[in-house]
Amino acid sequence: MVRFHFCFSLSVCGFLLGTLFGCGGNVTDPRSIETTPTDSAAGPAADSSGASLMSVQSEPYGKGPNGQNIEQYLLTNDNDMTVSIINWGATVTSVMVPDRDGNVENVALGFDGLPGYLANAPYFGGICGRYSNRIAKGLFTLGDSEYSLHINNEPNHLHGGRLGFNRVVWQAKPVEDEERNSVGVKFTYISADGEEGYPGNLAVTVVYSLNNDNELTLDYTATTDKDTVLNLTNHCYWNLAGLESGPVLGHQLELNCDKFLPVDETLIPTGELKSVEGTPMDFTKPATIGSRIADVVGGYDHCYVVNKSEKLPALVATVTEPKSGRVMTVHSTEPGVQLYTGNFLDGSDDVNGFEQHTGFCLECQHFPDSPNRPEFPSTVLRLGEVYRQTTVHRFSVVD
Ligand code: GLA
Repeated sequence: MVRFHFCFSLSVCGFLLGTLFGCGGNVTDPRSIETTPTDSAAGPAADSSGASLMSVQSEPYGKGPNGQNIEQYLLTNDNDMTVSIINWGATVTSVMVPDRDGNVENVALGFDGLPGYLANAPYFGGICGRYSNRIAKGLFTLGDSEYSLHINNEPNHLHGGRLGFNRVVWQAKPVEDEERNSVGVKFTYISADGEEGYPGNLAVTVVYSLNNDNELTLDYTATTDKDTVLNLTNHCYWNLAGLESGPVLGHQLELNCDKFLPVDETLIPTGELKSVEGTPMDFTKPATIGSRIADVVGGYDHCYVVNKSEKLPALVATVTEPKSGRVMTVHSTEPGVQLYTGNFLDGSDDVNGFEQHTGFCLECQHFPDSPNRPEFPSTVLRLGEVYRQTTVHRFSVVD
């Protein structure tokens, strides 16, 4: 195992403040992204000398389809939180988080090794692209050209096609960010002009970073040498009670979304931005995921419109799991979030035996089928522009 150990004066300072003013336990406002060192999650901070234990370690994970070395990177902070990510698909393989009693468990669904991820039928933890979610019938027009993409989710194109960004090898480099007091990994992928039918050579980076406020941040950037469309997301499935705990229907969800996008029977938006009021889509006040799921045909698999916010990243969601006390708060610069309740998980080997609704996804992204909907926020990335998006997952506990 290779260990990259970064030493931060800030993190030591944070630790000292945390110790002085009392760490862990109850988080006053899980919706606030502005944190102080005193409200970081439960768990021992640093070692007995007060030195930060934040580190990035890497270990071999297997061989890719063409014999490429696949490595796993482990980001560790001072609060017993570890995030594991592989350079196959820049995929999160596990997120270990303490519960209210300090018990550390994995809360992100995944496979037990590389073979499952090589196919990754459910997209566990991966980066989806170039276009996450659906493009109707795999067709769009950009400038004077029409583009035709692979139909991998009849009759539509889904999550980038046959070999989306979740099924390619990314370059990886451990990084540190002293300003944010975080450790991370920068993943880079060059998608060639014409790959999966999309125009332009596209250079994509995704930086995953973890800090001592238990924030897992994803920073996406991209540039292209020809106008293209782009919609990146991460496809983690969460179960804040731990992976052995069954369906997530008892998780309490609050979405900062007054509107959602109704879809047709192939899950393509109709174009309407509909108020959630008085519908089973309404999570503007906390409600359990299971409270009205029976009234939603097929379960939740819908894009919500994140309420406008002056400050970005904006609050998207707060999820509380009552038994463990774990809370996950999501902020993002993206205008939409796909709530997907693991409807297609069927207990088969293809999904590592996970049963229906044993995980939920909050995929921060642009709206599905935007290339065919000029009225939606644009997903066109032009030559000379820089694509930038950020999504933050913050983990804490409540009593
Ligand atoms: C997204 C889609 C779902 C499904 C999953 C992967 O969330 O919206 O319909 O395809 O990915 O199974």
